[in-house]
Amino acid sequence: MKIKNSHFRTIWPDAQDNTIIKIIDQRLLPHSFVIEELRSVDDFALAIRDMHVRGAGLIGATAGFAMYGAALAAPKGETNSYFQDTAQRLIATRPTAKNLAWAVERQLAAIGREKDRESRISKSFQVACQIADEDASFCQQIGGHGLELIAAISRKKGGGPVNILTHCNAGWLAFVDYGSATAPIYAAHQAGIKVHVYVDETRPWLQGARLTAWELKEEGVPHTLIADNTGGHLMQHGMVDMVIVGTDRTTYTGDVANKIGTYLKALAAKDNNIPFYVALPSSTFDWEIEDGLRQIPIEERSGDEVNYVTGLTQDKRLETVLVPPEHTRSLNFGFDVTPARLVTALITERGVVAARRDEILRMFPEKTKGIKETG
Ligand code: MRU
Repeated sequence: MKIKNSHFRTIWPDAQDNTIIKIIDQRLLPHSFVIEELRSVDDFALAIRDMHVRGAGLIGATAGFAMYGAALAAPKGETNSYFQDTAQRLIATRPTAKNLAWAVERQLAAIGREKDRESRISKSFQVACQIADEDASFCQQIGGHGLELIAAISRKKGGGPVNILTHCNAGWLAFVDYGSATAPIYAAHQAGIKVHVYVDETRPWLQGARLTAWELKEEGVPHTLIADNTGGHLMQHGMVDMVIVGTDRTTYTGDVANKIGTYLKALAAKDNNIPFYVALPSSTFDWEIEDGLRQIPIEERSGDEVNYVTGLTQDKRLETVLVPPEHTRSLNFGFDVTPARLVTALITERGVVAARRDEILRMFPEKTKGIKETG
């Protein structure tokens, strides 16, 4: 997507030296645009854990390149346990995002088939690039399918602006390009359909205020930032036509883990008869668990993210300040689970599908094998 009219992805190998992987440090956006170089597995693990990169798709793509970094640094001789240990270490950095384990396991399988160091390096680089390219292409396809949903609402409204509420950042910054929830919005905007986006600020990390608002501004999409508690009120007063969010892990039964607060938006949407869509590439599905509420691991992060806020001072310095009284104990769950019954449909690269086991498996029949015949 565009930053000041230049095209960027969120992760890419250096053009001169492909042992260096470049990312945009998202901790500093929107006020500073800094490109960071990742060289070692430690660099990759830290970048994922401390959210220099974040968002399910980008976490997966970064983990793909991390395994290539591991191949570059592999010790001589037997390397099986080295790659397994590295994989476990990477998976532990952000436990909710399914794309992380998915990318690491894809790399482990590819690396395991190679016989020598050089071929492990070249194979893992090739697979990392494939993961990144696929992510971008799947998101672009999600855009095409979601565009139809927006276009239908626009027709119903006689071409009036379609008001879309989104939570967190499921934009191109959360993937390699395009985004999941934002891809249909960008596609509609480019097709000349009038859209307007309500952006939840998304406490505590403020992905909406810092990242989604910035992306939409760079793309010229009309938007309004709202405090997290505002969505229900807007829905009650007919100001929201649809909700589109992303997800970090969705069960094959349609339960959706996404940024904390998503569940409350889904409840409000249901109560007000507003369609609630979840956009995801298939790499975000968990094909092994069926009860999202009980089985999806929910990441708990430091309470400091709740207590401290970072922003630009009037004299344009980035400053971090404490909001509650000193030493206040805070609880910081990163995600919640929206049960399938509150989800109108899922928007995937293959099309729009009901958040139901039978429909999801009909769309992804190759995954049926291995899933036990119940329900
Ligand atoms: O903690 P984050 O910023 O990595 O969480 C991101 C989200 O919850 C997004 O909404 C989600 O990743 C879906 S889009 C990939």
